[in-house]
Amino acid sequence: MAISTTTKSGEAPGGKPGGGADLQELARRHLWMHFTRMGAYGPDHPIPIITRGEGCYVYDEHGKRYLDGLSALFCVNVGHGRAEIGEAAAKQISELGFYTNWSYAHPRAIELAAKVAELAPGDLNRVFFTSGGSESVESAWKLAKAYHQLNGDQRRTKLIARDLAYHGTTHGALTATGITSLREQFEPLVPGGLHAPNTNVYHLPPDHEPLWAADAIEQMIEFQGADTVAAVILEPVQNAGGCFTPPEGYFQRVREICDRHGVLLISDEVICSWGRLGYYFGHERYGYSPDIVTTAKGITSAYAPMGAMIASDRIAEPFMQGEKSFSHGITFGGHPVSAAIALANIAIFEREDLCGHVRAKEPEFRGMLEGLRELPIVGDVRGAGFFQAIELVKDKETRESFSDEECEVLLRGFLSNALFDKGLICRADDRGDPVIQLSPPLIADSEQFEEIDRILRSVLTEAWDKIVRH
Ligand SMILES: Cc1ncc(COP(=O)(O)O)c(C=O)c1O
Repeated sequence: MAISTTTKSGEAPGGKPGGGADLQELARRHLWMHFTRMGAYGPDHPIPIITRGEGCYVYDEHGKRYLDGLSALFCVNVGHGRAEIGEAAAKQISELGFYTNWSYAHPRAIELAAKVAELAPGDLNRVFFTSGGSESVESAWKLAKAYHQLNGDQRRTKLIARDLAYHGTTHGALTATGITSLREQFEPLVPGGLHAPNTNVYHLPPDHEPLWAADAIEQMIEFQGADTVAAVILEPVQNAGGCFTPPEGYFQRVREICDRHGVLLISDEVICSWGRLGYYFGHERYGYSPDIVTTAKGITSAYAPMGAMIASDRIAEPFMQGEKSFSHGITFGGHPVSAAIALANIAIFEREDLCGHVRAKEPEFRGMLEGLRELPIVGDVRGAGFFQAIELVKDKETRESFSDEECEVLLRGFLSNALFDKGLICRADDRGDPVIQLSPPLIADSEQFEEIDRILRSVLTEAWDKIVRH
């Protein structure tokens, strides 16, 4: 497909785009894709260019259809192509394209803050908008530090996250992220970032103490000195590593530990809110009360960038008095167009009862994935709601995993391409042990589950025969 980026003479002066280059060529030359080995692309290995979306499906530049089994990046929760969201955006732009939340309010930010507070459990009533997940995590850590400072606890600055957890990429959020390969290019990071064990139990002996990972957080707080720890940040279901769910009572134990030591509990629900686990907020599913919730992605179903940090009244209250303020802000936090989109998005959630749909369909979705356990390469299936992972193993009996080199061949050399070629977008990931993650739009139903089953079954069987047994 040729697009007209040529100069008058048809030349591309100074190496600038032009000469009738097509999208592939322009992308390879100018677009810096995130977390992407740009050098892997070339004439024989084109960049996937997605041009259109509808419901659970997206289409590439050649018109080929893909089942979006990842909701783009765990975020297009209401599905693609919702015209009414576009209408809400257009209406807002014609009324007020932008105004800031720095010392001013505008109707959509106010309405959205009130709506989020209405939907959030308990006293999570104060909403600070951001432009995305990393900024929400940055904001939460900063709020925790500032809160303790206001209370005279100046030494409480440290943040405890978990091994392998992904909390974003800005310096503070990256400090919370527990994935060595993402951190090493940027060290030293923010002082005070610590990592405790996560709740991956698949490779532990069956008789391990069920709440050991919660107790490990307490040991870390005690070792560091409780008066130096500001907060613990945890996802309800940990994404990186492959949808680690909490054992029964885990979050209740963590809450007790935090309370005992005066440490705040931040629930990072950038993925796990907005219906992903069948509830507006992931912590509702596990029955705990965080002090701060971080969210993003599904708040607008990604129709525009937006995130939020939601603080309990207890945490926000000291900042609401007299001359006090939270010295933190982001130009686009609470952007009126994003806020209008979020309101339209939430209206769809309510009208179509998407949380109820996820709760009702989870057993069918999960049941389909459980059926894949009969394949020799499928070791574990885990997750919650429409957020599930399959762990791949070399040996089911011993649960032996693949080496780094084997993962490279299996995931990047075969699975990612084979799944995509067969029309399924999902994530083949080896930030921990190798997993395939599925997180379809919340409107997905039996038809899409059957399609996922059919493609995964054939590709995983081929992977076993061609790559593993070979
Ligand atoms: C739990 C969690 N926190 C934070 C982030 C960072 O969000 P963003 O990419 O919008 O900055 C992500 C992104 O996937 C996430 O999953």
